Amino acid sequence: MAKLFIEGGRKLKGEVKLQGAKNSALPILAATVLTADESVLHNCPCLTDTETSIKILRCLGAKVNRHGHTLVVNTKDISSDSISDSLMRQMRSSIVFLGAILGRCGRAKLSFPGGCELGPRPIDLHLEALRQMGTEITEHHGELVCCAPKGLNGTKISLSFPSVGATENIMLAATLAKGTTVITNAAREPEIEDLADYLNKCGACIYGAGEGTIVIEGREELHGTSHNIIPDRIVAATLMSAAAVTGSDIVLKDVIPSHLSAVIPVFEEAGCSVSVKEGIMNIECPERPKAWSLTRTTPYPGFPTDAQAPLMAMATIAKGTTVFVENVFESRYKHIGEFLRLGANVKTVGKVAVVQGVEKLYSSSLQAQDLRGSAALVVAALSAQGVAEIDTTKYLDRGYEDFDGVLLSLGAKIQKI
Ligand code: EPZ
Repeated sequence: MAKLFIEGGRKLKGEVKLQGAKNSALPILAATVLTADESVLHNCPCLTDTETSIKILRCLGAKVNRHGHTLVVNTKDISSDSISDSLMRQMRSSIVFLGAILGRCGRAKLSFPGGCELGPRPIDLHLEALRQMGTEITEHHGELVCCAPKGLNGTKISLSFPSVGATENIMLAATLAKGTTVITNAAREPEIEDLADYLNKCGACIYGAGEGTIVIEGREELHGTSHNIIPDRIVAATLMSAAAVTGSDIVLKDVIPSHLSAVIPVFEEAGCSVSVKEGIMNIECPERPKAWSLTRTTPYPGFPTDAQAPLMAMATIAKGTTVFVENVFESRYKHIGEFLRLGANVKTVGKVAVVQGVEKLYSSSLQAQDLRGSAALVVAALSAQGVAEIDTTKYLDRGYEDFDGVLLSLGAKIQKI
């Protein structure tokens, strides 16, 4: 397995065009199943998770061709309604194929999804909603056999938590259902809006995506389209953290600032100057960031849980004490143990982490345990004295395209072996 070697203390300089958003690309790839036609998806990042989606599509009978960051997906000849356990286990997002396959075939056979270990990640909200829409679901030894004998029916679904994946699954199932589906307390993430944009271009009728109530009027059929996937706001937050820990000035291209409205103020509070004009972000950082008051992760438009670990890397070397409260996942502090090896001062009690910034981190050998945690270790290592060795790429490659290449282009001393 590849390892990263990072010699910290180098300033970064230059510009980076943001990759397409993983968390948009994955549900949109699943959504192509509903079209029975050809879709052309631009700005689709090359990641192990998008490759897993492509494998699933091919196993279902779709034809998928990649030309750089453009994917041509033809789902005319879908011939299977099942996903193997080994593919389901490769990522959490495999579960959004459920709504799409049910919508297309009226039945689906798959198992519980895998993905990063962030504490329990149930799918009860997904299954309950699909049952409300007329799906009979039997669960046996981890296998889910789902069938809608009378077809899927639109209905009112009120989510007890604005789950991203459950909102996506309902939207996918509702698009070809009979009648109107209304989701209240829906997730409002930009990736939900992107999925709705793609589906609406295919002929779906979805209103309110990006707001708390989404209305979907079922359609008889969809057609293919061409779609540009939105830029990845979490990769943006990670690169901004990399600039902040190295006291650097960098430029990010293809930024949608409204997607970072809870993130940019944190960098400003830390003493960075951030300006965005026509999709180009300039971030200029002081030699050492200041601690900020509090980061509480919440569903969008609150502070994203996916940016918690990279920003905590920045807090470890900030002047003063920063408090984090992780409200979305039960176990998303695995990077902290590795930060301690670098000499960071972090104490946790339940979902609260208190980070007292130290003047310097010292390199060590580090073991990544999840996607955003591994990106955070890279960020921390960029500021540490000496050469850090990070066993990380298995996770990193799931969400960051050519991350070492991107950092190398900014002047970091980083090598993948
Ligand atoms: C999506 O995961 C993202 N993944 C995650 O990104 C992100 O962290 C998360 O949303 C929150 O923003 C993709 O989009 C592929 P949820 P998802 O359902 O859909 C509980 C990354 O690093 N819950 O909103 O799985 C759940 O346990 C990844 O890119 C239930 O209880 O997130 C969790 O505590 C990791 N029952 C909370 O809701 C359910 O049926 C949020 O989960 C579903 C969820």
